[in-house]
Amino acid sequence: MAYTGADKPVVEPVSDWVTDWDWLDDRWGEHAIDIFNEVREQCPIASTERYGRSFMPVTMEAAKTIAHDTEHFSSWRVSVSMPGAAAFPAPPITSDPPEHLGHRKVLLQSFSPKNIAGLEEELRRYARELIASLDGLDTVDAADVYTQKIPVHGICALTGAPESDADLYLDWIYRNFQIAPKRPEERAKVNAEMSVHFDALLRDRLENPRNDMLTMIANATSEGEEIAWGLKTGYVALLIIAGIDTTWSALGSGLWHFAQHPEDVARLVDASNDSLLWQTASEEVLRYYAPVSMARQVVKDVEVAGCPMRAGEQTLINFPAANHDPEAFERPEEFQIDRLRNRHVAFGMGIHRCVGSNLARLELLVGMQEWMRAFPGYSLDPTKKTLWANGQVRGPRNIPVLLNR
Ligand code: HEM
Repeated sequence: MAYTGADKPVVEPVSDWVTDWDWLDDRWGEHAIDIFNEVREQCPIASTERYGRSFMPVTMEAAKTIAHDTEHFSSWRVSVSMPGAAAFPAPPITSDPPEHLGHRKVLLQSFSPKNIAGLEEELRRYARELIASLDGLDTVDAADVYTQKIPVHGICALTGAPESDADLYLDWIYRNFQIAPKRPEERAKVNAEMSVHFDALLRDRLENPRNDMLTMIANATSEGEEIAWGLKTGYVALLIIAGIDTTWSALGSGLWHFAQHPEDVARLVDASNDSLLWQTASEEVLRYYAPVSMARQVVKDVEVAGCPMRAGEQTLINFPAANHDPEAFERPEEFQIDRLRNRHVAFGMGIHRCVGSNLARLELLVGMQEWMRAFPGYSLDPTKKTLWANGQVRGPRNIPVLLNR
């Protein structure tokens, strides 16, 4: 499904990113890193009144403080949204201690390194099939034909969710991240649609068990206790939403970046798939273009980096900005494909650290390797423009390229 950015809410342009930030401003998608750097030169935490009072930390220290503090910050709503927006339970990401750990444990096993490594062959086969389907073409939108498809295939292979519903998943993702923060009624609508859909899917697995994650979830208990059915549909919604847009953005950013750095592509194509260079290059994509920012609700008054936050207010945890903090990284403004010290936080920190990171890393690596080996001379099409998604999951939504076979 080609991304058009249709229906996006009209957003009053930001006048001052320190006092009036907005993650749905048109400049966020393409210029987020410059924006975060500009704010960091003035203060560690920006604020806005656009969603009620809401904060945006831009340093590693502030991001770390909030991510590790579950006493003052709750995950019950993980998007900065208009006041009064309903929350949709999608554990473990929307749960706090003590319930959080039990929900997380239900999902963890399926994402073990061994389980995910078992998907590599199928992911490579699929990537090559997509590439073969481009036979005879000189120019393509790499997002439409490649980067958005690989994560759908990966998460469907793992969970057993039908891949034929891909357009539905992409529509939910778009409305959730690009529209819902400004229009709570849209979030309620999307959530209702997802609940009905995943309810039917899980019920089917109760009656027709298969060897897949959906069947495991349909029958799961947590520490011997029943899990409410509505939370189970929330698990599946989370896996589909978190499993697609995120990796699509990381892989897209990687292909977009390297399209402009043929010297790095040449080095990578010369290196073996399991070389250190491929590892450091893909971790640098994750650091530099970290796609995901999360949010927290302030539940008790607290002060972070000198900034008072009151119960009821909201804050981002801006993992992408933390990845560009010069206090945490040497020359963060440089994209270094062989960066060895790279303790990036693209996958978050603390108890909610990404459950799907093994799968995300595999899809990113396989996706970049197969593409660059097939099209080592590819470059951006200078006649077309890349559209970047702004908001919670940032990344290129179309990547017009010349294949230069
Ligand atoms: C490059 C790709 C990805 C990035 C950058 C990413 C990033 C993140 C981040 C930052 C968090 C922390 C959320 C928080 O602190 O509130 C998170 C949590 C999570 N991610 Fe990912 N993610 C990626 C891919 C995936 C994939 C492929 C899946 C598979 C379904 C996944 C599933 C999850 C889940 C289930 C959680 C919740 C963990 C918890 O609350 O304990 N993610 N992710």
